[in-house]
Amino acid sequence: MRILNAEYVKGTLEPENRGMSNIPEVCFIGRSNVGKSSMINTLVMQKVARTSSTPGATRMVNLYSIDYEYRGVRQQLIFSDFPGFGYSKVSKVMQQNWQKMIEGYIERNKNIKRIIWVYDARREFDNLDEMLLEWFFDRKLHFTLVLTKTDKESRNFVDIKKRLSRQWIGEGEIFTFSAKTGDGRKELLTHIFSTADT
Ligand code: GTP
Ligand code: MG
Repeated sequence: MRILNAEYVKGTLEPENRGMSNIPEVCFIGRSNVGKSSMINTLVMQKVARTSSTPGATRMVNLYSIDYEYRGVRQQLIFSDFPGFGYSKVSKVMQQNWQKMIEGYIERNKNIKRIIWVYDARREFDNLDEMLLEWFFDRKLHFTLVLTKTDKESRNFVDIKKRLSRQWIGEGEIFTFSAKTGDGRKELLTHIFSTADT
């Protein structure tokens, strides 16, 4: 298993403009500033995605083309980096726009294999998370919860958080990750490749 090439393709809000018609896609979704772009960079071990210390900086769905080798076969995937949601300084109208935008993009996109729900390991689940979770279930979207920034907490804390998350989301995949240390990288990458393969 290895990454052969990773490059930026484009930013778009329309899945119809996505191009690369039948290539499977994996979406990275989560709150603003949670570490979605950093996760992509750590996964591909290259700085392809723009990270920012200004929350809410990402306005489009940014697409990256990933060439990789898995089980001895060369394959291609799209990683899509979503604008973060739930940034408190953004107006209600903007929040609603975000919701419409991601719903539109995801519901009209037939190539999505999985949603990586990037979640700050230190956060408490709230109403906004609950809404997102319900939407995943309603639309039968395959998602994986990834607790990130684990480098900021003890092993014990992360283990407890993982168990609590299990209660929140019920059945479903949960992984832990740190973009800073690379903790959990191999496991998450294997998971992504194996789910994109089916
Ligand atoms: P938006 O696109 O604005 O929604 O943000 P994002 O979710 O893409 O977050 P981004 O990757 O830009 O990271 C936000 C900040 O968190 C940056 O300062 C990163 O360096 C930091 N960060 C991201 N992942 C980690 C991590 O695993 N550990 C630590 N310590 N910091 C992280
Ligand atoms: Mg980002």
